[in-house]
Amino acid sequence: MSESFRAFLYLVSAVFFILALKGLSSAKTSMKGNMFGMFGMGIAVAIAFSIPQVSAYSLTVFGIIIGGLIGAFIAKKIEMTALPQLVAAFHSLVGLAAVLVAAGALNAPSAFGIDVIGCIMRGSLVEIGLGTAIGAITFTGSIVAFLKLQGIMGARPIILPNRHLINISLSGVILLSLLLFVLTKGHFFFWLLAATSFALGLLIILPVGGADMPVIVSMLNSYSGWAASGIGFTLNNTLLIITGALVGASGAILSYIMCKAMNRSIINVVLGGFGDAGASAGSSGGTQERRQVKQGSPEDAAFVMKNCSSLVVVPGYGMAVAQAQHALREMCSVLKSNGVKVRYAIHPVAGRMPGHMNVLLAEANIPYDDVFELEDINRDFPSTDVAYVIGANDVTNPAAKNDPQSPIYGMPILEVENAKTVFFVKRSMAAGYAGIENELFFRDNTMMLFGDAKKVTEEIVKALEG
Ligand code: TAP
Repeated sequence: MSESFRAFLYLVSAVFFILALKGLSSAKTSMKGNMFGMFGMGIAVAIAFSIPQVSAYSLTVFGIIIGGLIGAFIAKKIEMTALPQLVAAFHSLVGLAAVLVAAGALNAPSAFGIDVIGCIMRGSLVEIGLGTAIGAITFTGSIVAFLKLQGIMGARPIILPNRHLINISLSGVILLSLLLFVLTKGHFFFWLLAATSFALGLLIILPVGGADMPVIVSMLNSYSGWAASGIGFTLNNTLLIITGALVGASGAILSYIMCKAMNRSIINVVLGGFGDAGASAGSSGGTQERRQVKQGSPEDAAFVMKNCSSLVVVPGYGMAVAQAQHALREMCSVLKSNGVKVRYAIHPVAGRMPGHMNVLLAEANIPYDDVFELEDINRDFPSTDVAYVIGANDVTNPAAKNDPQSPIYGMPILEVENAKTVFFVKRSMAAGYAGIENELFFRDNTMMLFGDAKKVTEEIVKALEG
């Protein structure tokens, strides 16, 4: 295959990746987006076999089969609720790949075509150095994010004494070793750069806790894209440069959107410490025990719902845990057939990953036209009879508006308290992800429906039908 034809196919593949991103931006078109992505990747893999430097065909095919089997197994087995940690684990692999490719290029530059008479070109040294630094930070940062999200490591921020001083010093050593590596081509400076970057990735993510983790995962997604782009320069592969830049830019945009949804600055997130809600949760714990809540049964809820004219469902993480989306659809179908206007309100960070609730509602065939974003539905709560909050907590918590000390202060919320009646479906009085008490549980217009989200909703359906 000629060089120019290969370049043309790379362009075609890049166009498919862009179409994939566009498709993935909405639940309606996400299947098509996935197909575009798979097609683009198929072309990219096929082109790789035509590159003259690629000669170990059997090893490459073996790698593709092993990787494909592992990917297919994980895709079949993974729980929806475990996707954020899976994404973090995959990012770590991209980061590690960047470091390994850079080390390979340093040891065998002629195999990568980056040397002139045995000497690595200066531009390539800069690419190798930057790819290594970003890749190493992504690797260890993603490992910590994975351990925290998987619950292997506590979600609380780990705040080291003088951490800002340590981080600034490490950043200084990284910059210096990068400079010395480019000037001297010394392997020692390369490994110093890698080691300090590994350490910085670890130290940056350790102090991040609780509700900031989603932003961090999307930020690491962005880093992994830039690391892949760096490898693209080292390998002289335009498609990898384009794809890496697409992932890098989309991850950065997603981080920005999520920070906006939580009303936080990215610097503030990265400097860490947010989500250490232990103190506030603990201090409110005593109050919680003394205060009374109104508790109801699924039959009570069914009675109120049957007689209402409008209902807004607010799904959250608990709905995902209980896999209650199908029962919910059934409940809403019965209500709709009784003439109740039913809509769904989605908070941008409800659940544990961007689009979490949209995916579950789509899986249950809930019509897209019934699903509304926060800014579109909030003004309708005052004219809503019933808000059915199913497994959601933080995203409705008014502390985000009223309590400057709260770790979620500034995050826009779904203002369910403005509805005439609010049902909270959850198993106990336990706090949500941010670890803080929700004042709404004690309000006069709130009724708690304690139990598993799926079971409670199924019982409401039974009562509605009975
Ligand atoms: P949360 O505030 O985490 O509340 C979920 C509630 O669901 C909990 O209070 C829990 O109470 C209840 N629950 C758990 N299992 C249940 C079950 N089987 N049946 C019924 N209820 C159950 O969820 P949210 O309102 O969706 O807010 C999301 C939070 O996660 C935010 O703080 C957000 O910043 C953070 N976060 C978001 C993301 C993204 S990108 N979406 C990623 C990571 C973190 P009980 O234990 O009493 O049942």
